[in-house]
Amino acid sequence: MFSEKVNNAPKGYTFDDFLLVPNASWVEAKNVNTKIQLSKKIKLNIPVLSAAMDTVSESELAIALAQEGGIGVIHRNMTSEMEVEEVKKVKSAEEITIRDVVTITPDSDITTVQDIMENESISGLPVIEDDKIVGIISKRDVKPMIRSGVNKKVNEIMTSDVVTIEETISPEEALDIAYENKVERLPVVREGKLVGIVTIRDILNHDNHPNAARDKHGKLLVAAAAGPFDLDRAIALDEAGADIISIDCAHAHNMNVVKFVETMKDNIDAELCVGNIATAEAAEDLIAQGADALKVGIGPGSMCTTRIVAGVGVPQITAISQVADVAKDSGIPVIGDGGLRYSGDVAKAIGAGADAVMLGNLLAGTYESPGDVVVMNGRKYKTYRGMGSMGAMTGGFGGGADRYFQEVKGPMKHSKLVPEGVEGAVPYKGKVSEVMFQLIGGLKASMGYCGAKDIKSMHEKARFVQITAGGLKESHPHDLLITNESPNYPLLE
Ligand code: XMP
Repeated sequence: MFSEKVNNAPKGYTFDDFLLVPNASWVEAKNVNTKIQLSKKIKLNIPVLSAAMDTVSESELAIALAQEGGIGVIHRNMTSEMEVEEVKKVKSAEEITIRDVVTITPDSDITTVQDIMENESISGLPVIEDDKIVGIISKRDVKPMIRSGVNKKVNEIMTSDVVTIEETISPEEALDIAYENKVERLPVVREGKLVGIVTIRDILNHDNHPNAARDKHGKLLVAAAAGPFDLDRAIALDEAGADIISIDCAHAHNMNVVKFVETMKDNIDAELCVGNIATAEAAEDLIAQGADALKVGIGPGSMCTTRIVAGVGVPQITAISQVADVAKDSGIPVIGDGGLRYSGDVAKAIGAGADAVMLGNLLAGTYESPGDVVVMNGRKYKTYRGMGSMGAMTGGFGGGADRYFQEVKGPMKHSKLVPEGVEGAVPYKGKVSEVMFQLIGGLKASMGYCGAKDIKSMHEKARFVQITAGGLKESHPHDLLITNESPNYPLLE
């Protein structure tokens, strides 16, 4: 019986075991479309999420990644209040509505208006009476009067016919309204009350990131991690505007976690991504409970020791493909999480059925990741640690430990924990935008070779060849001393 179990064990494969086979192709890399529907409500322009880790994803990285078209997942090794603040920072990062509006009353003198405009460096003021907007006055209205020495009241020269907008409209719609009505600024109202002001100039300056991942109000998308049973945190993050709540757990096929997914779903509006898993059975159970997206990866991560400490895991290409087989039938997206080292690995993950990938190591060490740059042996590094490492489990707010169903308590807390990750450093990589340029450039090249014009056709067209140790050796640069490091092929030492 035991020998049968051992002899019949299936083989598990990962990135280095395969290459993608080139197909006859009419597709050129520059014309490839990398858009994905990550869940019913969420569209991304590049299939990339950042790992919910305390050396990777806080608001600064989430903003940078969303501006490139992906989405950051704020880590949870902080209090719920702190995580809510991080979500709010992303949501308001490109806020074009000025909330702190300086206003004036109709009976004020225009000399007062002029003083305010000069002191505050603004060129238009909404006129407010009983909390309602009754007019708008601009520098152009005031200047001629002041020049000719006439001191009038605001209500004598203001424009009373004010075009306002509701705060729910998109920047594009606001721009159309401003052009149609030939106005430079639009007061923003909620239930008739002034809550802000938008100017044409701010809208036009706003869109320097045409590929950015945005919600229907034009705000950057953001995801946030919550523990599998931390309903209060999930609700708080949802209310703060998180677009996805990512249930962040080392073993989401724990049946208590599976059971709680339904409760989470019932209490939040955001999409619910659940992970991590590595089998078809786990996918079936979580889909049955209503998960909107599944995250795959038990132990492939660059700083994970789960497979060594617990002897558990499924090599990542096999895990992704098994989950994708089940998820595709239900239309549920699959995120390949961990183990990706090169852009070619992203292409292989997608070829094996992933809709998107989650990156820890590849985004740690960027300018926008938390932490300082340190110099060792003349080279720049940033720290990177597993959320199951001793440092993350004891050093933060317990968000590392409960991911692994462990608790930090008592004076001997270190000796009571069994880490499943290590702490280290990764080379400094520059800006997220530079890393994404190389990564998505490599993915697009791959799609060109495979003849896939978009992610859906990559799922259909990608073919794999299994390679040997010799094939892997041949794949990497060999028989030369690399003298110039390439931006998409880093050397570690
Ligand atoms: P990469 O390879 O991108 O992996 O660095 C990132 C993913 O690794 C997972 N993760 C861990 N897994 N022990 C583990 O076994 C850990 O301490 C740990 N910390 C993070 C996580 O899924 C992340 O997205």
